[in-house]
Formats: sequence, C-alpha cells, structure tokens
Amino acid sequence: MLEHYIDEPLLLSRDKTGELHCLSNVCTHRGNIVVERACKLNDLRCKYHGRRFNLNGDFVSMPEFKEVIDFPTAADNLTTLPLHAIGKWLFTSLSHTHPADAFFADMLKRIEWMPLQDFRFRPELSRDYVIEANWALYCENYLEGFHIPFVHAGLNSVIDYGNYTTELFRYSNLQLGIAKDDDELVFDLPTHSPDHGKRIAGYYFWVFPNLMFNFYPWGLSLNVVKPMGVSRTKVSFLSYVWDENKLRQGAGADLHQVEMEDEDIVQHVQKGIRSRFYKHGRYSVKRETGTHHFHQLLAEFMNK
Ligand code: FES
Ligand SMILES: [Fe+2]
Repeated sequence: MLEHYIDEPLLLSRDKTGELHCLSNVCTHRGNIVVERACKLNDLRCKYHGRRFNLNGDFVSMPEFKEVIDFPTAADNLTTLPLHAIGKWLFTSLSHTHPADAFFADMLKRIEWMPLQDFRFRPELSRDYVIEANWALYCENYLEGFHIPFVHAGLNSVIDYGNYTTELFRYSNLQLGIAKDDDELVFDLPTHSPDHGKRIAGYYFWVFPNLMFNFYPWGLSLNVVKPMGVSRTKVSFLSYVWDENKLRQGAGADLHQVEMEDEDIVQHVQKGIRSRFYKHGRYSVKRETGTHHFHQLLAEFMNK
C-alpha cells in the first residue's frame, strides 16, 4: 500500500495447503478492515458483526442474516487479486490490464543464471531515505549515467563511463556498468549469459514506474521509490546478499555515499523546476535515453 496514493487495503494469507492468496482486506458487509496485523488463524472473522471468510477469501457465514434473500452471492466473497512470484518476491496488480511478465520478463531473462532464491534479505544492511523531491525526479536521475562523472567521483573511479550503456525494453530498461580497471570486482558470467565476456560491475534494472533492481557481484540492492507528497519521496533500499565475500567492493561498495550525492542533486532540481523560468530541456540523444523512456511511459499511462 502506498499511503495517500494507493490506499488499497490488501491481505496476504497462506491456507492449510500452503497456497498463498492476495485478498481485499475489506469486509463485504459494511466495509470494516478484516485483519489488522500479522496473525495465525484458521479463518478470517470480521470484528464488526462477525462475518467469516475462508483463508482463500470465500464467504463462510454471517450472524443474523437468515432472513436475507439471495444471500450469500459471489459478491460476498473477498476479492482475490493475482499473485505473481519472481524469485522470492510477490507482486500483485489492482487492475488486470497489464500482465506482470510484461514488466519483469526482460530483466529475468537477462539474469536467468542468478540464483535469486538464494538471495538473503539483510535488514541491517537495508534502510529508508526520505528525499525532499518528487518521486519522478528521483527516477529521472537514476535513469541516466550522464551525471556519474559530475556527481559521483567515487563511482566514476570504478565505472567505465565511456562504455556505460542503456538498453530499453517495453516497461523496463537496463543500464550496464562496465568496470574501469582490470582489478575491479566484476560478475563471473556463465558462458550462456548474453553478457559473457563483458566486465560487468553492476546491472541497473529499472522497472516502470518505481522499482530499481541493482545487481552487484555481492547480491541485490532493490530500491522501491514511494511518493509521500508532491515534493517528498521515501526510497527503501532493501539489501539481499548472495555472496558475502564480495560485500563492500566494486560499484556496489558504498551505496550510501552514492545515495547522498544523488539526493543532494535531486533536491536542488526540485527547487529548480519550480522556477517560473524553467520549462523543460532537450535530451542528450546518447546519454538520456533511459530518462526519455521514463517520460514516454509516464505520458502513455497518464493519457490512458
Ligand atoms: S462490516 Fe464486517 S461483519 Fe459487518
Ligand atoms: Fe546517481
């Protein structure tokens, strides 16, 4: 749930067979929230007037409703939403217009050799950043490596800016960070990887609209960009470690420092774009294809 933006109460349940269900967390009687916190139950019971549901969302019973005709119907079940599993992450969709594969398949194909199931979440290496800027400015900045030589001196010393590339997919894109020096930490790519032979220090995948999957030889830094207000954004950096020995090395060594540098610039841009004299600028054909891609998708979805 994105508070104030996507205020949709949902719950995730696991039934006795182990199957997971993503359900509306709103009672079909008078709209109470069914489950308030994580719990272990055999069925779901609304606290307001006692309506019960199975863990798969199906209506079970309701007190004082014997006289109600044509009751219950399918409309009395909790709405079920689709669940899409990728590695160890679960995604859902509030509308059925776009299948999840359209967003994730290009990324997954490219890194199909990575053992995503073995990546371990490390809360102590994860944190939230609050930025005084619009969420889209944060994404715009992420989507070009153009600023690396200007803004990120440390990162620029390990990434080969001349060979930095951006590839566009339908609802995602990939920036490939190539290592500068021979002794830099890079992925040990299997021969069947389309990138075999390249010296890749980081795969920076962005999935429209607000997910960044940054793969490094040590694992994944997943960034979730959450709008909090027009000019305030929370970015959750979630760390998943795959190879402990490679932590704190290479392009993914000091994510906090890079983040501080990005925040500083993005917060300045937030002030700048409010100027009465600023409209918009042209894009660099070579260096801003990712940012342009983002703007195209925003326009596409806002015109729907
Ligand atoms: S709102 Fe849930 S039983 Fe009445
Ligand atoms: Fe940056």
